[in-house]
Amino acid sequence: MIYFDNAATTGKKPAEVINAVVTALKGYSANPGRGGYKYSAKTADAVFRVREKTAEFFCAEGPEKVVFTLNCTHSINAVLKGVLKKGDHIVVSSLEHNAVMRPLKKAGTSYTVVEVSLTDDETTVENFKRAIRPNTKMIFCTGGSNVLGRLLPIERIGELCKEKKLLFGVDAAQIAGVIPIDMKKMNIDYLCVAAHKGLYAPMGLGILICRKSIPETIIEGGTGTNSLDLTQPSELPERLESGTVNVPAIIGLGAGLNFIEKRGIKRLYSEEMKLIKAIYNGLAKNRNIELYTPLPEPWSYAPLLSFNFKGIESNAVARLLDQNNIAVRAGYHCAPSAHKQIGTLENGAVRVSVSAFNTFAEADTFIKTVNDENFFKILKKAIE
Ligand code: ALA
Repeated sequence: MIYFDNAATTGKKPAEVINAVVTALKGYSANPGRGGYKYSAKTADAVFRVREKTAEFFCAEGPEKVVFTLNCTHSINAVLKGVLKKGDHIVVSSLEHNAVMRPLKKAGTSYTVVEVSLTDDETTVENFKRAIRPNTKMIFCTGGSNVLGRLLPIERIGELCKEKKLLFGVDAAQIAGVIPIDMKKMNIDYLCVAAHKGLYAPMGLGILICRKSIPETIIEGGTGTNSLDLTQPSELPERLESGTVNVPAIIGLGAGLNFIEKRGIKRLYSEEMKLIKAIYNGLAKNRNIELYTPLPEPWSYAPLLSFNFKGIESNAVARLLDQNNIAVRAGYHCAPSAHKQIGTLENGAVRVSVSAFNTFAEADTFIKTVNDENFFKILKKAIE
């Protein structure tokens, strides 16, 4: 099988991650920080080491600022619902996932959506600037679109937030582990991360790294500390980390971070971008295919793209690709406003997303498959 759905989750995990998870289940299965015995302390130490490594990887202020959550959506909810109050205004981008838009809608917070230019960062930053109002408290945006791959100029938006004294939150689901993130340099106050995508960890683990406080909690409970006090602790990570954490996934995350560091994040990104460019160029030759962005260049795009066969529903293409043992994600990718921007609200789009494990041979097979004239004939027949 050719797995091209790495934006949903990296479907192939490094051997070192798999081994680390097995090691965790065998040797680190006490509840961390919940028992006064050596086995619990050993597990807590292992979790702490990954907290430290994660803090270093994203240039956080310290390991205690790294909160382990259930997933990136949980991290985003914790920020939006924990920080925004009635009367606040927030600016978000046109490429946000429902993980951002649904909590905002539920909270009833007033928000402005600004269009992200697919070609010009200056325009994007100007759009953010223009949307700021006197009661704007925060800019929250994705680091990279899960539909179009377009990277947002995070560092420049961070500068804008600093200048205007706004909080800055980033949904890093598509960029963590893919491009370097320096929270300090980028002035990011809240970084929300999915461990199972670019960091190659198992599913069921998110990360939230804070440089500013989060006044309200969305989940309260046991933290293994101050048990006689019924008030949620104020210190991080305990304040935002109630209940038992996913130790096997956390230990897997440690191995995922090592995997990226060993190979070099910039080298991995450059290889993945070469692959996605080759796929783009192969698709661009097919006059029945529509692409929605310019050629994805490094530092402007993440290693993913979306396309359609003109007039064909995207899921029909994904189904036919699946019959050819190629896994892609079609439809709306939980990001309707990105589809609105490119005019694909009717048919969705077919998304191809690569990881460190994809090869040029796989890209070739994919291009040959979709460009084979029988592929289009079968599609057309299916809709007759
Ligand atoms: N948000 C993930 C995706 O884009 C699941 O597929």
